[in-house]
Amino acid sequence: MKRKIQLRNIDRREFLQNSAKFATGALLMSFGVSEIFGADQSDRPEGSIEWITLNNGIKMPILGFGTLYLNGAEGEGCVADAISLGYRLIDTATIYGNEAAVGAGIKNSGISREELFVTSKLWVDDSGYENTKKAFQTTLNKLGLDYLDLYLIHRPRGDVKGSWKAMEELYREGRIKAIGVSNFDANQLDEIMSYANIKPAVNQIETHVFFQQEEAKLYLNQHGIQMEAWSPFAQGRNGLFTNETLASIGKKYDKTNAQVSLRWHYQRGVVAIPRTSQKAHMIENLNIFDFKLDESDMKKIELLDLYTTQFPEWG
Ligand SMILES: NC(=O)c1ccc[n+]([C@@H]2O[C@H](COP(=O)([O-])OP(=O)(O)OC[C@H]3O[C@@H](n4cnc5c(N)ncnc54)[C@H](OP(=O)(O)O)[C@@H]3O)[C@@H](O)[C@H]2O)c1
Repeated sequence: MKRKIQLRNIDRREFLQNSAKFATGALLMSFGVSEIFGADQSDRPEGSIEWITLNNGIKMPILGFGTLYLNGAEGEGCVADAISLGYRLIDTATIYGNEAAVGAGIKNSGISREELFVTSKLWVDDSGYENTKKAFQTTLNKLGLDYLDLYLIHRPRGDVKGSWKAMEELYREGRIKAIGVSNFDANQLDEIMSYANIKPAVNQIETHVFFQQEEAKLYLNQHGIQMEAWSPFAQGRNGLFTNETLASIGKKYDKTNAQVSLRWHYQRGVVAIPRTSQKAHMIENLNIFDFKLDESDMKKIELLDLYTTQFPEWG
């Protein structure tokens, strides 16, 4: 995405709001989220996941649990385990074919609904006003829930305008706490915001140390849209779990490449949703709140950027 930030068409009020958000983004980059949102989090048990505040005031955990490929009994068990270990954000999607399993895992976890943050996504085949309403209800039925915390348009395909209108109505009815998009670039976000009455709260995009998406992050910060990283480990592609730069940084803090990666997302103020089928990895991925990458670590990681997707087959 090669797009320069344009300020010419925005009024002064919006400019001031954007400037404040931009300043917050810059602060997040230099200090990490805990210093910024610390005051919000006084009753948060030490080491547990922080919650950030979206542009509509709704709070969202900064670290969550991804469920792609976690289907059937395995998916159900993983989701229940993840919640029992402390994860509160669960990310699913209609196209994953696991909403029923995720719902069963949520039910088995024994944690009350209000404590959880459940995301699902509208698949491209369901785009358009009527289809979106139907697809949303099917998603809720499969999950066994009566509201979603976050509903995203999975990809910028089909009748996005019709889908957004339906999502705005569902949001106003209180059946979705926040609405957003996934895999949208700046031009596609500009487009949706040209007719939206409710601004997207989140954009979930591919982000990891090999595809850092700095320009997208700048745009999202400027517009007060929360960036969320999918495939925060690049699914281990390009040798992420054995990368020597990450390993040498991790050695200083007695942390693994996975933990260094997740801490890097966190210090950039980006929500990450790692997926694992292993309980030991679930625990490992939660243990990122007791150390801090310093400026030189962040600079070294910056140099790992390859500026391109690791998933060309999904393009
Ligand atoms: N919006 C979109 O278009 C989109 C696209 C892709 C993904 N997503 C979402 O993002 C989530 C995460 O992305 P992802 O599932 O593609 O991949 P990912 O989280 O980047 O990587 C998952 C892989 O990492 C391994 N892993 C996890 N923790 C580990 C650890 N501590 N040490 C070593 N290996 C570890 C897992 O293996 P083990 O099971 O063996 O631990 C698994 O093979 C998805 O599950 C989904 O919810 C969204």
